[in-house]
Amino acid sequence: METTLVLLKPSCVQRQLIGEIVHRFERRGLRIAGMKMMQLDDAILREHYAHLVDRPFFPTLAASMQTSPVVALALSGLEAVGVVRAMTGFTNGRKADPGTIRGDYAMSNQQNIVHASDSVENAAIELRRFFRPEEIFDYKSGVFDFLYGVDEALQ
Ligand code: TYD
Repeated sequence: METTLVLLKPSCVQRQLIGEIVHRFERRGLRIAGMKMMQLDDAILREHYAHLVDRPFFPTLAASMQTSPVVALALSGLEAVGVVRAMTGFTNGRKADPGTIRGDYAMSNQQNIVHASDSVENAAIELRRFFRPEEIFDYKSGVFDFLYGVDEALQ
């Protein structure tokens, strides 16, 4: 099983879509291993978007991420990183496929509702960035035996 990081961005919080987006992840069968609201500061955003700090849109990106608290989610499941990334859709909401979160809720390249880790390696780094170890819970989902086949459950 993998655990991945999702941030429900201010565009999600302000549009009152928190419940709707969390519901999508739950309905898919992802287990919520951690969940908290937090106000991001410049330091954590410079770290989180280190690959983008030199891009011209970074100042507006950093500002947009601080206009309200975000909700950080740790989501667990088999191949959770890829599954969640696929659910998220292309960065630009206008180009994202219908059926994805961005394709269903976003019209923007920046106000695009969610962040999702893009690799197993980055998920581990990002989970450490947003959660303390004791804020991530390892428990068996009540519907686990109906989410996975017996062989898959061992992975
Ligand atoms: P990136 O890591 O490229 O995409 P993703 O979120 O799909 O992994 O970019 C991070 C965020 O930066 C993106 O969610 C929104 C913002 N962004 C812009 O504001 N303008 C842009 O042109 C791009 C590419 C990203």
